[in-house]
Amino acid sequence: MTTLSLEVEKLNNFINGEWVNVSKTQAVINPATGEEIVQVPLSTEEAVNEAVAAAKAAQKEWALVPAPQRAEVLYRVGYIMKERKERLSQLLTMENGKVIEEARGEVQEGIDMAFYMAGEGRRLFGQTTPAELKDKFAMSQRAPVGVVGIITPWNFPIAIATWKSFPAIVAGNAVVWKPATETPIMAYELAKIFEEAGLPKGVVNVVFGAGSVVGDAMVHHEAIRVISFTGSNDTGRNIASECGKQLKKVSLEMGGKNAVIVMDDADLDLAVEGILWSAFGTSGQRCTACSRVIVHEKVKRTLEERLLAAMDKLTIGNGLDESIKVGPIINQSGVVKIKQYIEIGREEGGKLLAGGYELTEDAHENGYYFAPTLFTNATADMRIAQEEIFGPVVSIIPVSSFEEAIEVNNGVTYGLSSSIFTNDVNRVFKAQRDLDTGIVYVNAGTTGAEIHLPFGGTKGTGNGHRDSGIQALDVFTEWKAIYVDYSGKLQRAQIDVES
Ligand code: UN1
Repeated sequence: MTTLSLEVEKLNNFINGEWVNVSKTQAVINPATGEEIVQVPLSTEEAVNEAVAAAKAAQKEWALVPAPQRAEVLYRVGYIMKERKERLSQLLTMENGKVIEEARGEVQEGIDMAFYMAGEGRRLFGQTTPAELKDKFAMSQRAPVGVVGIITPWNFPIAIATWKSFPAIVAGNAVVWKPATETPIMAYELAKIFEEAGLPKGVVNVVFGAGSVVGDAMVHHEAIRVISFTGSNDTGRNIASECGKQLKKVSLEMGGKNAVIVMDDADLDLAVEGILWSAFGTSGQRCTACSRVIVHEKVKRTLEERLLAAMDKLTIGNGLDESIKVGPIINQSGVVKIKQYIEIGREEGGKLLAGGYELTEDAHENGYYFAPTLFTNATADMRIAQEEIFGPVVSIIPVSSFEEAIEVNNGVTYGLSSSIFTNDVNRVFKAQRDLDTGIVYVNAGTTGAEIHLPFGGTKGTGNGHRDSGIQALDVFTEWKAIYVDYSGKLQRAQIDVES
């Protein structure tokens, strides 16, 4: 691979189709090198108000554009993203740190979403159904909500933005979008693509800035009727309660404490590969990352040995280098949080088998790196087995039966993803029924959701909504029931019914 010349332009807000300068800014740091890449604007509430006004005006017109024509814009967005895939991937690695292969995968996820949601322009299905009275027609139809607010995280800065904005756009809404301040380049690049694809001005507006200012203003703006948020549990709960007071629809995805279950009949080499990929990919900074391995005691020792041997081969460094398998942590506070959990794990009696330390020498000197870490002999109730760490840290929990494995898996407050390695068909079907998570994998790790299926989880992971899949349309549409009476007389439902 040849690294492209990645000059990064000055980042401005994108409001009503204009690039608007913001005077207050802060540095965006490449987590692999500690170097500044660009400055991100720190907008005020005023910018949110301007963005909402633009969105409100644009949405009226946009909703009247036939959905197949709205979809044409998304097809163009998809083609431009495809053409620009390598540039986007390299920029993504620079600002987020994930290794280039994973960055390409994430951009691909966005491209897939563009074509999938563009297809919805010719579906957006409602229902027709018989009416209870003669000469009367009944149907249901999706209607756009209006102006929607999306708040996206730094760990999947382009994929999650597409999960939320594309269904909103195809359904006829206008969007006000606050991207994470750590990863504004993907948002800027996507906004430029919207512009080039001919999206009418004001349909998508990007306001960069802090959650406490921009996010807060969005949550409290009366013209924003939906907030779709992916991020931390505390922030999500706070958004939900603020939106609740205003009867504002809110869709939340707030992480997981995902487990891989390895049964005594499993293909252990395959399980090792699945654990490695889903635990240490994106340096464990995925909502879907595997951070618990629930293993049958009969195969525990063999699994540990093979896992340690495989972890030994992981190369850690700058993700732009194709030979690197594990990139940096997003920033120093991420590293500090992981270190705190290592201490907690030790104090709780977890046995550290590998890693457990920050990497600060040589090539790792200026970035934020943490060694892939394996605890064993963890128990289900330990904090390292309960709380989301968001780093390359896995805890092995031994169990003595399938039933216990399911119980341990479900015994956390989160419910995003789970996985089981087994070759027993009866266990497969029982597991997919009994694992209390929104996503279940069989003989694969906990990551790798595809965009045409619903993404989200049970319990503390969210509030019942889903990103991606056609289910995403439910977040960004209202259902409208329509009755057409062609009898020419007053017919009273429930009353004028002949028995
Ligand atoms: C996230 O971590 O928030 O399933 C998103 C996966 C990816 C998306 C992860 N397709 O791991």
